[in-house]
Amino acid sequence: MASHLQLLLVLAMVTLMVQTNANLSPHFYEKVCPQALPIIRSVVQRAIIRERRIGASLLRLHFHDCFVNGCDGSILLDDTRNFTGEKTAFPNVNSVRGFSVVDEIKAAVDKACKRPVVSCADILAIAARDSVAIYGGPHFWYQVLLGRRDARTASRAAANSNLPPPTFSFSQLLSNFQSHGLNVRDLVALSGGHTIGFSKCSSFRNRIYNDTNIDPRFAASLRRTCPRSGGNNNLQPLDATPARVDTTYYTDLLHKKGLLHSDQELFKGHGSESDKLVQLYSRSPLAFARDFKASMIKMGNMKPLTGRNGEIRCNCRRVN
Ligand code: HEM
Repeated sequence: MASHLQLLLVLAMVTLMVQTNANLSPHFYEKVCPQALPIIRSVVQRAIIRERRIGASLLRLHFHDCFVNGCDGSILLDDTRNFTGEKTAFPNVNSVRGFSVVDEIKAAVDKACKRPVVSCADILAIAARDSVAIYGGPHFWYQVLLGRRDARTASRAAANSNLPPPTFSFSQLLSNFQSHGLNVRDLVALSGGHTIGFSKCSSFRNRIYNDTNIDPRFAASLRRTCPRSGGNNNLQPLDATPARVDTTYYTDLLHKKGLLHSDQELFKGHGSESDKLVQLYSRSPLAFARDFKASMIKMGNMKPLTGRNGEIRCNCRRVN
């Protein structure tokens, strides 16, 4: 009897899980607007030609969207007189960028589709995927699940508490990721997002003056770009090849050349599970590509609004 009940319970849970993901589909826009995906790709491509860094900024926007109440476009909402959104939260203010490219994409797809059918949350997921594939080549292309709808609200407090800061230790990073339903493999693979893009001096100053798990020559050269005081906005690439999705980020970690404290926390050379994953990804671009794509899809499926929930915004910066 008990095992019968257990079986029913498991079946009910499996059905629930399948239903949650069944709401998103790679074919969501094929009938309503088949031009949407090629248009997004071409706007992203043009934006990257205009400014090499922008694809990295688009990838980060998707991450910062998903980690705060799910992938619902909440990060894109502007503050108004009686509403405070996520843009001014500590991890975002004066740091996340790419909003005007999102506006450009939204205008282009709405024009081609003749009405607003593509959500801002989906635009972020597609733009992140396209950026990764443009910087990394075809091995880094994956099919994004689509059909997310946009939130009618956003939370600065949730952004402050849900986004991990670069000062986090390994165990803090892991519990943060676990609180989003992600595991150690997701943590190490997704941190590989730092294979592209840049960081401000204020995000790594503490590391280069106080950490011991850092190559001394690397630290000394960074101190020239990032003085003890001042120069907060001076930029440094997150790995040695900031415009290429490759395994240099992980090789840098093996040599104690992670830029952020949180990056180097993934490799300490003690033989931990995380150490082993860093070693694996550093020597196998295919293993990195496989796990990065799987974890991106997992992250992109976090708590989407579907069906009658949320809305399709006409302007990504404000609710309809
Ligand atoms: C594991 C926890 C993470 C921490 C603590 C973290 C922290 C940071 C910090 C501090 C910066 C520099 C921001 C600045 O100085 O303005 C940054 C940049 C960036 N992050 Fe992360 N991040 C994490 C995970 C991720 C994930 C999961 C992704 C994507 C999959 C990602 C993608 C990026 C990208 C692409 C940039 C460069 C953006 C640009 O150049 O505009 N990060 N991150």
